[in-house]
Amino acid sequence: MRLSGKSIVVTGSAHGIGRAYSERLAADGANVAMLDIDGARNDEVCRAIRGAGGTAIAIRTDVRDLEQVRRAVDQAAREFGGLTGLVNNAGMLNVVPITRCTFEDIPDAEWDEAFRLNTKATWYGCKAVLPHLKANGGGSIVNIASSTIFRGVPTRAHYVASKSALIGFSRTLAKELGQSWIRVNVVCPGSTLSEEDPDPKTIAMRSEPVKVRALQRVETPKDLVGTIAFLMSDDSEFITGQTLLVDGGSAFN
Ligand SMILES: NC(=O)c1ccc[n+]([C@@H]2O[C@H](COP(=O)([O-])OP(=O)(O)OC[C@H]3O[C@@H](n4cnc5c(N)ncnc54)[C@H](O)[C@@H]3O)[C@@H](O)[C@H]2O)c1
Repeated sequence: MRLSGKSIVVTGSAHGIGRAYSERLAADGANVAMLDIDGARNDEVCRAIRGAGGTAIAIRTDVRDLEQVRRAVDQAAREFGGLTGLVNNAGMLNVVPITRCTFEDIPDAEWDEAFRLNTKATWYGCKAVLPHLKANGGGSIVNIASSTIFRGVPTRAHYVASKSALIGFSRTLAKELGQSWIRVNVVCPGSTLSEEDPDPKTIAMRSEPVKVRALQRVETPKDLVGTIAFLMSDDSEFITGQTLLVDGGSAFN
């Protein structure tokens, strides 16, 4: 129970990798506040975590709306008696799809939406937890980017650009918040089979990057959860401003 006594907010907790983060953090003893726009599915996942003996609450939240994020985070802090961490994981990918095309064909509105959900909402999450982490005497924030930003993958330049921005943002926050003992790190997943009930075409797409990896197998959400648990724990208490690639050695930082 490495995370006993920790209270952590996870965004994008209803599906895919965020669901796996929530399950693992709760299994390690943390109180988990699950924030997702898909309220019904979030409730279902939360019930399953509780059924397995974990402590979790689900709060339907659109992370693009600062007031909703603040309300949800404040509620989590009230219910858990404070907060120690935040995993900013909600983003565009499967549930909110993102067009695969070259940069000149990206729809204008979709460019803005990528920055709104992947970048601006991360800023909102950090703002909302700040008073609670300060009140706690410190804490840990992890912002989820993508290993694509180190590889220059063709197509989806808006996704890659919006995730790249998180590195500079997080390094700046690490310096601004160090004096409050708040750590800010970035985790970059590789291409991960996070789709629920993937069809053969999806499995083939997720198998494609295997050949450029040092560790040549398909990545799954389980490959990421240990890193998040570590960064939410006191074992990482002197690590901040870092970018950790969890992609089987496909890109190097
Ligand atoms: N799967 C991959 O290959 C991969 C690779 C690199 C990075 N990532 C990043 O990891 C994160 C999770 O990826 P995933 O594959 O699980 O994606 P996903 O699409 O399966 O899940 C995203 C989650 O975010 C939620 N969400 C979407 N919009 C929201 C909003 N406005 N407010 C609140 N919640 C919202 C969705 O309901 C869903 O639960 C994303 O930030 C993604 O960019 C994924």
